[in-house]
Amino acid sequence: VNSAKIEIRGANFCYAAHVDCGLIGQTGQLTREVVRGNRAAIVTDSNIPPPLVDAVATSLAAAGFHVMRILVPPGENSKSLREVERVCGEMSTLDRTSIVVGVGGGVVGDLSGFVAAVFHRGIPHVQIPTTLLAMVDSSIGGKTAVNLISGKNLVGVFHHPSLVIADVEALKTLPARELRQGYAEIVKHAIIRDAGMFRELQSANITDWTPLIRRNIEIKATIVSADARDISGERALLNFGHTVGHAIERVSDFRIPHGDCVSLGIVAACEISLKRAGLPTSQRDEVIALLRRLDLPTRLPPNISREKIADAVSRDKKFEGGEVRFVVTPRIGQAYISREVTIADLREAIAVL
Ligand SMILES: NC(=O)c1ccc[n+]([C@@H]2O[C@H](COP(=O)([O-])OP(=O)(O)OC[C@H]3O[C@@H](n4cnc5c(N)ncnc54)[C@H](O)[C@@H]3O)[C@@H](O)[C@H]2O)c1
Ligand SMILES: [Zn+2]
Repeated sequence: VNSAKIEIRGANFCYAAHVDCGLIGQTGQLTREVVRGNRAAIVTDSNIPPPLVDAVATSLAAAGFHVMRILVPPGENSKSLREVERVCGEMSTLDRTSIVVGVGGGVVGDLSGFVAAVFHRGIPHVQIPTTLLAMVDSSIGGKTAVNLISGKNLVGVFHHPSLVIADVEALKTLPARELRQGYAEIVKHAIIRDAGMFRELQSANITDWTPLIRRNIEIKATIVSADARDISGERALLNFGHTVGHAIERVSDFRIPHGDCVSLGIVAACEISLKRAGLPTSQRDEVIALLRRLDLPTRLPPNISREKIADAVSRDKKFEGGEVRFVVTPRIGQAYISREVTIADLREAIAVL
């Protein structure tokens, strides 16, 4: 197998992400290189094209795995403890030498990763992301979680995958709306770390996904490796655009998809960066133009209350103790955590959204 791989390495984990066109057929081989055991549970949702799942199953079988398939309903609601119990129940004939292979977007990735983390106190997890968001963001970093009624991702553990296989061909069937969700995180990565990628996104139409996805995985991998358990603050840079974004998500009752909320959150973060980090106005305008070009929203829909968003932001758990820690960008390609941002700044930025 000769696809260039990206190593994701930390104090107590090391795994590879492979990104290429047509990689699915190599799933069995790639998996064999990193895990032992001979049973594999494929977890997927019913929107994932069956031929893609078949190809994963066939390849695993050819590499000597006994394969079982577990289907979950598509959508965020599948990230629940009820679903964890059901999936684990279906795996009752498996033992701790088995592996879990998640084939799908972030929902399948988070759920299957959590199952892999807790089944027999932890078995290997292989991530096969099939959405742009999962390829550039959720499959990397080892965070797994399910939701409670009271909030998203409240029950989870760190459990790094043993392997990530991103076959860019899977994106061919992804609806435009879902592609957009991934773009929001890509623009975020560009603003916090990679001015060159920002320029490329401005000028080029994406015809080859492979280099773009690799670059994004590298960015997330670098940040995550520096701060695997979200402690030193490095990983907090990935929250750029997310403070206001999460507030919009909650106030809209999750009707506005995550990437769209992040896009709006990025606009707000740029507005605040003008004032608190010296971001040039021209660069703020370039960010807005790029988001528009990618079909991402840059203005709040009129029917949503700015007041409620501002209230939701002030209640954010990251602001407990009165100190606001907010990720700002002084110029495209750089970001840092500022303690100078005030709740009033946030209200102001939300008011002009
Ligand atoms: N663990 C992390 O670090 C992390 C990071 C970011 C987001 N997340 C989580 O990721 C989730 C969102 O992930 P997502 O945006 O991938 O959503 P998703 O998994 O719900 O996928 C979006 C939609 O696309 C469908 N789909 C997936 N692949 C397809 C394909 N190739 N062709 C056609 N349809 C396809 C899915 O069935 C679903 O309907 C959220 O639950 C979020 O909390 C986790
Ligand atoms: Zn996000």
